[in-house]
Amino acid sequence: MKTVIYYFTGTGNTLAIARDIATELGETELIFMPKLMNQPEVVTDADVVGIAFPVYFLNMPGLVMEFVQKLKIIGSPFLFGIVTCGERPGHALFSLKSLLEEKGTTLSAGFVFVMPENHIGPVNLMGDAEHRQEKYRDAKMRIPEIAAAIRKQNISVPEGSNSVFLHCGGFITRTLMTSIYQTSRRLHATDKCNRCGICGRICPTNNITVTNNAVVWGKNCTQCYACIHWCPQEAIEIGGRTAGKLRYHHPAVNLKDMILR
Ligand SMILES: Cc1cc2nc3c(=O)[nH]c(=O)nc-3n(C[C@H](O)[C@H](O)[C@H](O)COP(=O)(O)O)c2cc1C
Ligand code: SF4
Ligand code: SF4
Repeated sequence: MKTVIYYFTGTGNTLAIARDIATELGETELIFMPKLMNQPEVVTDADVVGIAFPVYFLNMPGLVMEFVQKLKIIGSPFLFGIVTCGERPGHALFSLKSLLEEKGTTLSAGFVFVMPENHIGPVNLMGDAEHRQEKYRDAKMRIPEIAAAIRKQNISVPEGSNSVFLHCGGFITRTLMTSIYQTSRRLHATDKCNRCGICGRICPTNNITVTNNAVVWGKNCTQCYACIHWCPQEAIEIGGRTAGKLRYHHPAVNLKDMILR
């Protein structure tokens, strides 16, 4: 039985969960989606296929939507989705289901893991260390049950909700956040930057160029927040709103796991 999990992550929550599921399932290949994004098509002939990603604005990240569009699925695998989110998964797994249905296949099951929030906003959603530990503990406890459901290939309705209200809410939140915060336009490096180049090597969309004199962001940001959270100097800010705020990554994931080039 061939099992593969394609995953996307900005700060390691999704990788940590995908790894735990893979370990519990045994003999599972883990593939980082951004490594395949330059291919016109991604062909999979696995018997069990997982698609794991973080929730952005109650929905799928743009990069993951693009990835799913590139997927060419051979045969009829058991296809499962895994999402991680801070609190609200919205309709992310239902969007994945719809995308797969457009390709003539379906999502067999979809699971939500609540993890520490990595979006830095005006309100501290990340919580304190104790709150984060609680989320890690609760998530770990779900792993055996979910791996068992995948192993038995139990078909189920994806977790989350497909309500029209959430679709509208997600769209409005994304629009507001993008227009108010303009993350991709306001990303910049401060004087603390020592031009180490890590942000350029970590960015999943190849959107950052580091030269001897400057760090420059392009227009292709998927808002994963990896550059902000992984910069060793904490030199990356979004306008003025991230100054002094805690940087985060999952404790079991290190920079080496994240480096793309
Ligand atoms: C741009 C952006 C939007 C987000 N939107 C949501 C959301 O709608 N609901 C939610 O519960 N968490 C949201 N989050 C939090 C992440 O989904 C959560 O922290 C996730 O576990 C991060 O996964 P990663 O570490 O694999 O990148 C958002 C994070 C970012 C960066
Ligand atoms: S990771 Fe941080 S310190 Fe390194 S080049 Fe990027 S902004 Fe500068
Ligand atoms: S620029 Fe930063 S936030 Fe945007 S996709 Fe690249 S790493 Fe993620």
